[in-house]
Amino acid sequence: MTKPFIQDLLNEMTLDEKLAQLTQLGPYYWGLDDTVDLTGPFKELNIKPHIMENIGSVLNGTGARNVIELQTRHLQTSRQKIPLLFMADVIHGFRTILPIPLAMGSSFDLEACERFAEIAAKESAAAGIHVTFSPMTDLVRDPRWGRVMETSGEDPYLNARVTESMVRGYQGKDLKEKGRIAACVKHFAGYGAPEGGREYNTVDVSSGVLREFYLPAYKAAVDAGVAMVMTAFNTVDRIPATGNEQLLRGILREEWGFNGVTIADFNSVNELIPHGAASGGSEAAEKSLTAGVDIEMMSTHYLNHGPELVEQGKLDVALIDEAVIRVLELKDALGLFENPFKDADPQIDEAAEPCAEHLQAARELGASSVVLLKNDNEALPLKKGMKIGLAGPFATSVHVLGGWAGVEKDTAVSLYKGISQKISAEDILTAMTGELGSMLEGVFDVEDQVEEAFNRLKDCDVILAAVGENQQDTGEGGSKSNLRLSANQEKLIWRLKDTGKKVVTIVFSGRPLELKPILDASDALLQAWFLGSESGNSLADVLFGDYNPSGRLSMSFPYTVGQIPVYYNAFQTGRPYDPQYPQVRYVTRYLDCPNDPLFCFGYGLSYSDFAYSEFAVEQGERIHASITLENASEHAGKETVQLYIRDVSASVVRPVKEMKGFRQLSLAAHEKQVVSFEITKDMLMFYGKDDQLIFEPGEFDIMLGRNSDDLFTQRIWIG
Ligand code: NOJ
Repeated sequence: MTKPFIQDLLNEMTLDEKLAQLTQLGPYYWGLDDTVDLTGPFKELNIKPHIMENIGSVLNGTGARNVIELQTRHLQTSRQKIPLLFMADVIHGFRTILPIPLAMGSSFDLEACERFAEIAAKESAAAGIHVTFSPMTDLVRDPRWGRVMETSGEDPYLNARVTESMVRGYQGKDLKEKGRIAACVKHFAGYGAPEGGREYNTVDVSSGVLREFYLPAYKAAVDAGVAMVMTAFNTVDRIPATGNEQLLRGILREEWGFNGVTIADFNSVNELIPHGAASGGSEAAEKSLTAGVDIEMMSTHYLNHGPELVEQGKLDVALIDEAVIRVLELKDALGLFENPFKDADPQIDEAAEPCAEHLQAARELGASSVVLLKNDNEALPLKKGMKIGLAGPFATSVHVLGGWAGVEKDTAVSLYKGISQKISAEDILTAMTGELGSMLEGVFDVEDQVEEAFNRLKDCDVILAAVGENQQDTGEGGSKSNLRLSANQEKLIWRLKDTGKKVVTIVFSGRPLELKPILDASDALLQAWFLGSESGNSLADVLFGDYNPSGRLSMSFPYTVGQIPVYYNAFQTGRPYDPQYPQVRYVTRYLDCPNDPLFCFGYGLSYSDFAYSEFAVEQGERIHASITLENASEHAGKETVQLYIRDVSASVVRPVKEMKGFRQLSLAAHEKQVVSFEITKDMLMFYGKDDQLIFEPGEFDIMLGRNSDDLFTQRIWIG
């Protein structure tokens, strides 16, 4: 039931005012950012002043002082005194920058993911933000795509759990609460599957694949009560998502019961035209409004063509009214009609010192996201008293916040700084720490400097090579075809290996890189991602064993770029490869590289040694799979026990395995625990030929273990 005061507001609105509520513009349209020429965009978008007075929301206008000023001015001119909604991209923290979402996914720690969102919500709420364009929950299989850094990875189950945790963390129980903001899940749907990993490229997935792999995480957000959904730039079954009625009204609203606000991604209403799905602005507006896009972001076809569409009978004004009501209801849920500034607080927002509690949390979240990929010869943890060599472009760099950090200055703790808080600076010898430039791009050969680094570090006890990709290569518009480290970095690692000392390679990246070329040169390999403000401290905690690494990969790391896409939950094929017969040619395989990735989904090491035994599946009234986990080491540690299933034969082809659960356990040295999972029928359901969720009795493999490739299996019949 619509609240009477909202209905009254609607009843009194002109059509122009309604369409203005459904339009989102950047803050410079209000002249808040004086670096922008006001007349330009005004002219281009054809916005009249009386329309500006009634616009519904602002994109990326932040800062408590700005927001208060803009809202105050707006309320003075807005005829009905309807407050503006401020929405922004708070992707991994606001003032305290937290690990990138792909790293958070790799923590497999759902409480940590909720805490992540809670911190981001508190800080951005104080800066006047009401809605964050997060979580981005697009399932990803192609690390060439730069935006893999913004999601939690390749698995629908993990993505769904991370997403609902984040929605809870942002929104809490009541959006009116102090420090809570509304979440907007994105990009609905399938944006994570651009062909060839090329940004904004075509997406083409079957409806079965869409439903089973891509949709579950968005659905989890809806079930968790997410306030908003953003449409994707891409097509879904050849129709742009922003004009896709079946997707937005059919699946999202009718099937899933979503009654929040939908918003088009930046300019994507307009992009129906270059897509070839609309002949001009009028048709673009008609298609998007009909499809169910409530808010148009940064284009103005609703405003400019809405009236003629209604007049010509092409658009029922009832659709516009519904959308306006949803926008007003969101404003009401946030309490903006009572307090249009919500939590905007210049004192908190502009405090000279960052929040110590949030920094401490960032440090812990960072440590829990790091993935130990290799640790031969007990290269790690480092011991105090060792002489440590530190080389590479990320050794002293502060450019490790990760894309979408939103803060202008790079304020992160460098690796060097983190290590120097643990041991005396005299015990750290640096070489080739020169900033990112030529080392990352590999334009110039740096042979002499590599030689110098070799000579300088050869007498250290252990050498850390801090390498990776430029943080600016990740995020939107960050597609790449080559995922190797630059030639200069590979050369450096191999030359350091010649010292005969242990080499620990630490990789800073927003995506899985191709690490095979430096694997054998590295005694230990640590995936450091981009961890945000506390990066160096989180890494130092892991390196010195103050935090025992517990991250597990949320995305497969390819053996070589030619294998991409490579992911664990692929469909079964008619000619599977059998490793016992490697010489057989006519099976699904490459002649020149393995089928498997270098490091699979769910993989990650620890300083503890976890032993699995006594796997059992018990079938009575209920089905349980259990396994005994033992920490067979002197180090207390955290392990993630993973549950997968495989439907052996079904009416549609099923994946070779699918994650259905995981449990994180902290075990003291030599502690043993039995871990048990109930196998329920809903875990075994899938989308059949008619896109209906069904269960088919038959044989299932139940698998438990430490990662997607190292599992105990038992086949059972489930009827
Ligand atoms: C485009 C991006 O695709 C989207 O994720 C973001 O939220 C909007 N721009 C707004 O900045």
